[in-house]
Amino acid sequence: MSTGAPFWDRKYGRPEYVYGTEPNRFLVDHVTGCLKPGGEVLTLGEGEGRNAVWLAGQGYVVTAVDYSRPALEKLHILARSQGVEVCSYLSDVMDFELGEARWDAVVLLHMHLPPRTRSLLHRRIVKALCPAGVLFLEALRCDQFGRRSGGPERSELFYSAETLRRDFHDLAISRLVEEDRFIESGEHRGWTSVINFIARK
Ligand SMILES: C[S@@+](CC[C@H](N)C(=O)[O-])C[C@H]1O[C@@H](n2cnc3c(N)ncnc32)[C@H](O)[C@@H]1O
Repeated sequence: MSTGAPFWDRKYGRPEYVYGTEPNRFLVDHVTGCLKPGGEVLTLGEGEGRNAVWLAGQGYVVTAVDYSRPALEKLHILARSQGVEVCSYLSDVMDFELGEARWDAVVLLHMHLPPRTRSLLHRRIVKALCPAGVLFLEALRCDQFGRRSGGPERSELFYSAETLRRDFHDLAISRLVEEDRFIESGEHRGWTSVINFIARK
C-alpha cells in the first residue's frame, strides 16, 4: 500500500464506495455501551464516511478528518442520502488541531502511519479526549503482513498489542483483542488479522 493523499485520491476517485457504506462491525458492537448519547466524536482518517455517517445517525455530533478530497465528497453524498450531518475537515491528521479535553470519543480505524508519526498522533489523541472520553481503535496487526486480503506493504506500519499498551499507558484499557475476522467491506473481502482496542481517559 502506498501512502500519501494522491494515492487515496486515486483510490476514491470513482463512484463506488471502496470500503462500502456499512459501518465497521467493531464500532457498531461497542459504541452504544461505551459512549453517552449525543457525545462529540472525532473520527480520524475517516475515508468515505461509512463510520461517521453511521455515528451521526445514532445521534452523535461527528467531526471527520481525512486528507483525501474525493473521500470527503463521498462522505457528504452518503450523509445527505441518510439525512444526517457530519462536519468534515480536509487535512492531514498531523496538521489538524485536535484540541485539549475536547472530544467524548475519538475513532481511529484502519489508519496505518509510520511508527514515529503514529506515536505522536496517539499522544495527541490522549490529550484531546475529555475526562472519561473513549478511544475506539481498530487496525491490522502484524499477522496480516503479506496476506492477500489487504494492508500496508511495510511491516512497521502494522499494529501490535505492545504498541497500544505503550502508547496508551495512561488510559484505562477495557478491550484489547487480537482476532482473525472475515471482513467484507466494499471491495475488501477475506480473513483479516485485526487488533481492536477500547480505552478510557
Ligand atoms: C484504510 S482507509 C480507512 C478508512 C476508514 N477509516 C474506514 O475504516 O473505512 C485509511 C484512510 O486514512 C486516510 N489517511 C491516511 N493517512 C492520513 C493522514 N496522515 N491524514 C489524514 N488522513 C489520512 C486515507 O485517506 C484513508 O481514507
